[in-house]
Amino acid sequence: MNEAINHAGHLLHFDSALHWCFLIALFGFVVGGAWVVVRILIPLRHLARQASGIMQGELPRFDRRISGIGEIEQMRRSLNHMMGQVQAAQARELTYRNALTESQENERRRVARDIHDDTIQSLVLVSHHLELAARAAKAANQPGADHLDNARTQVVQTIEGLRQIIGDLRPSMLEELGLADALEALCDRHPKLCFAVQGAVCDIAPAQELALFRAAQEAIYNAEHHAQARQISARLIYTDSAVSLEVCDDGIGFAIPHHLQEFAVRGHYGLLGIRERIQHLGGQLQLFSTPAAGTRLMVTVPLSQKALAAA
Ligand SMILES: Nc1ncnc2c1ncn2[C@@H]1O[C@H](COP(=O)(O)OP(=O)(O)OP(=O)(O)O)[C@@H](O)[C@H]1O
Ligand SMILES: [Mg+2]
Repeated sequence: MNEAINHAGHLLHFDSALHWCFLIALFGFVVGGAWVVVRILIPLRHLARQASGIMQGELPRFDRRISGIGEIEQMRRSLNHMMGQVQAAQARELTYRNALTESQENERRRVARDIHDDTIQSLVLVSHHLELAARAAKAANQPGADHLDNARTQVVQTIEGLRQIIGDLRPSMLEELGLADALEALCDRHPKLCFAVQGAVCDIAPAQELALFRAAQEAIYNAEHHAQARQISARLIYTDSAVSLEVCDDGIGFAIPHHLQEFAVRGHYGLLGIRERIQHLGGQLQLFSTPAAGTRLMVTVPLSQKALAAA
């Protein structure tokens, strides 16, 4: 009888020990689980949320400290450092590209000056001599006067063509007449193009004028070469705070990539170049295009404080 009671007591003792073990294990499991959630999963989720912008091509900052295990915080610091470096590299590249644009403009000016001062002056002299020779041939009733006349006409046409090239390279009309007239002259050379000015014309910074003029050249070139458009229109819009240039066509349109850099990767730099130049001046490029329904490009630069004060 005593033995049976003893045996039952052992069993009871063993049972309650098992019970305690189970409770302790359960407690350990719950505490461990909570620790994993609080110290690993939640901080990782924070980090993943902060990093999600990278997928959209953004450069998010990882500057908020994340509580959690040290490795996650270390990962955040590394990502933050990496983003800082990428941003700095992008800023350096942008400065470099802006400097490149500026030196390109200087180079264009130099080439335009050379064509004007050397080539055109020489051709003017040639045309003058041809005219004299033709006159002399006619007076002496010699054959070949017509050929000399034709040669002179061709030289005059070549001079005209070179003057147009100079106008593209160095839009001197911009300096002489201002943006609106220079754009009108540019549009006059394109038969499909109609041009209009909206709002009260005011002076803007020369760099802004040049950027809008270059944007117009690129947009018109694109509309003529890629769009198969029947009609192209350009509008210069002056408002109280900004100047915009809009170029629309009724052509085939195109799929605008999420990032214009995608065009650059494929060797197309025109639109990206416009955007960078305009952004450098505090403005923006907007592009709307629908396949088979045409394209609308709009660049806007803010009026400078000086222009606003004078308005
Ligand atoms: N108005 C438009 N209509 C239809 N497609 C266009 C138009 N403008 C641009 N595109 C498309 O967008 C692409 C990129 O244009 P972007 O001006 O950047 O480069 P590009 O004209 O091809 O070359 P470039 O570097 O000489 O300018 C073009 O190749 C063309 O496919
Ligand atoms: Mg182009």
